[in-house]
Amino acid sequence: MRTKVAIIGAGPAGLLLGQLLHTYGVDNVVLERQTPEYVLGRIRAGLLEEGTVALLDEAGAGSRAHHEGLVHHGVELAFGGARHRIDMHAATGKTMMIYGQTEVTLDLMNARKAAGLTTIYEAADVKPHDFDTDLPRVTYVKDGITHEIACDFIAGCDGYHGVSRASVSASAIQTFERVYPFGWLGILSETPPVSHELIYNNHARGFALCTMRSTHRSRYYVQCPLDDHIDQWPDDRFWDELKRRLDQKAVDELVTGPSIEKSIAPLRSFVAEPMRFGRMFLAGDASHIVPPTGAKGLNLAASDVHYLSHAFREYYDEKSSAGIDAYSSTALTRVWKAVRFSWWMTSMLHKFPDQGEFGARIQLAELDYLVSSKAASTSLSENYVGLPL
Ligand code: APR
Ligand code: PHB
Repeated sequence: MRTKVAIIGAGPAGLLLGQLLHTYGVDNVVLERQTPEYVLGRIRAGLLEEGTVALLDEAGAGSRAHHEGLVHHGVELAFGGARHRIDMHAATGKTMMIYGQTEVTLDLMNARKAAGLTTIYEAADVKPHDFDTDLPRVTYVKDGITHEIACDFIAGCDGYHGVSRASVSASAIQTFERVYPFGWLGILSETPPVSHELIYNNHARGFALCTMRSTHRSRYYVQCPLDDHIDQWPDDRFWDELKRRLDQKAVDELVTGPSIEKSIAPLRSFVAEPMRFGRMFLAGDASHIVPPTGAKGLNLAASDVHYLSHAFREYYDEKSSAGIDAYSSTALTRVWKAVRFSWWMTSMLHKFPDQGEFGARIQLAELDYLVSSKAASTSLSENYVGLPL
């Protein structure tokens, strides 16, 4: 088989890239090691920047988001027993959309299927080869048979644990990492959200977040020790702990119910540089990970894909390599700003084991400054709604 761009990974990054390239007339094949059902079964965040929604529209996969997504104009920060609203739309003119990553992935899968494009699921032992030459190729095993795809370029959209970054020699890559000393215990419940917008809570017992998937499906998180196990958190214990971290109004209005999903996720900041290795390019989680506090993971994958898809279009339409040559530095400039913001939000809102009373007071002072300064809340808003592409 031959294609112009071989995409490894059928998560949001790989599928969005495949759709945009198709729109631009650039032939591509997507290779995914899991089944579609497995990919869709992953519970992930669900807040889209306007730029991400615009890319879904450009990819022909945005209509359901516009019908079912919830448009938000702000968030609330809760600390010291009170909630403070940040009107992000007033500060930036932009909105955010609540629309689950699972739905984004499903819409992209359906768009790809409707376009009759090739996606090879359950592709085992996918390997990129010769990406430091002009003849890169990808091999994979399907039904016990080894197949080869000759291509012009390889897009490594295979996430943090993927094969693409792992195929690069250690001397050619530099990584930067910060592992946080806590995790997020998340619950999904068929209950109405406690508020129509998100509430980020700084509390002496630890961070809590009130978010949602729709007007009848809520998503809540509490910070928990890294060595906690999900079996230690029956629903009753989760709801009790959440209430202890919320303001009284939220406690009074919280509707609890049985969990339909419950999981604990570790938090890390991670960046691999560069994002280009000859004719192989990394995009999304394959290159960077952010703590979910700033809701940047999916949106960063989308911005990488924005830059990479435009670079490939320029290469084929204008016979110019300027875009692909600039991709890594352009993408990393935006990645690092989002990594900083996600680190900053995480540092401000979570209880760190070594912060002490001084650290706790500094957090409260920063939050108080944020909600009382137009300049500070505008800065928060600019980063949260998404910096310009
Ligand atoms: N071969 C083929 N496919 C692979 C391989 C491999 N060796 N390794 C991983 N994959 C697939 C995974 O099964 C997954 O479907 O690559 C896909 C990567 O998707 P994501 O991990 O979702 O990463 P990305 O598309 O960059 O999306 C980033 O997902 O993890 C969240 O928080 C993250 O919201 C962000 C978004
Ligand atoms: C979510 O809806 O899962 C979500 C929203 C915002 C965040 C993190 C997670 O910052």
